Amino acid sequence: MPYPRILLVLAGLWVSACGGEPQPSGPRRFVIGFSQCTVTEPWRVLFNEKLEQASRRHPDVELRILNASDRTEEQVAQMKAFIRQKVDAILISPKEAAGLTRVVREATEAGIPVVVLDRDVHWDGYAAFVGGDNLEIGRAAGRHAVKLLGGAGRARGVVYEICGGLASTPAQQRRDGFHEIVEREPGIVLKGGLDGDWKKDRAHNLFQDALKTLPVVDIVYAHNDPMAHGAFLAARTAGREKAIRFLGIDGIPGEGCTWVKKGELTATFLYPTPGEQGLELALGLLQGRPPAAKRVSLPTATITAENVDDYLP
Ligand code: FRU
Repeated sequence: MPYPRILLVLAGLWVSACGGEPQPSGPRRFVIGFSQCTVTEPWRVLFNEKLEQASRRHPDVELRILNASDRTEEQVAQMKAFIRQKVDAILISPKEAAGLTRVVREATEAGIPVVVLDRDVHWDGYAAFVGGDNLEIGRAAGRHAVKLLGGAGRARGVVYEICGGLASTPAQQRRDGFHEIVEREPGIVLKGGLDGDWKKDRAHNLFQDALKTLPVVDIVYAHNDPMAHGAFLAARTAGREKAIRFLGIDGIPGEGCTWVKKGELTATFLYPTPGEQGLELALGLLQGRPPAAKRVSLPTATITAENVDDYLP
């Protein structure tokens, strides 16, 4: 019996909605590779979890997540493997900028769309970037520090800075944005500025040493919450935590927000994980829906004791 004409029309519409050519074995499957620089920090674990959640909403996506364990060479090798496997798209959150630039370019030139997440490289010919505005976050932290120390033009005090991995763009921008604001204040003395590579134990050790030579520290500004908390723990061991205010960045519920709630950090600045938007964007590119803008900037917020409950489950 011939099919009613309406069904044939609907079937035709369905086929064209699914991307033109009828597929003999169901809809097209996309393989998307993700090279994650590390999973040491809980922020990265949350990043991967949210990315996996997003991929489960797309049965047509096969997501391959690799962890480069904080090693640039490992991450370069992972990228080269994705190129050899001819994956359909690549997501990468690079350990550092210089060492990953060439391979991002290689993948792009091999015809694979690359979406760079959170940390940038030194070349912008890739398909898209998704991440927070680290310069603005640094400025927000600077404004907060100035406020805590007496306000613009009157601020006085000693600020000790602990940097993230300085070969990565977020650390450079969090430093530059902060300095832009704080260096306008003649009453603020800036100390530290060493590379803590985003790691809690390194920051703990750096600040433990600093406390021995600095009789007064008013504020610790660390480029992420784990390092801010590492410094807090060192201060507590030295019996000096009550005299110091600690500022961090990330604001995830399990870390920064919990520490703000307990009064261990004075503030944290939200740095949303970019996995979900990165995946949607890559999939859009593969399905012929390029993003409106090549750089997607995720929002931030200042989280203190006053509003922390809004960020806790
Ligand atoms: C995790 C992390 C975060 C930080 C981000 C910067 O590895 O250090 O704490 O906000 O990377 O790229």
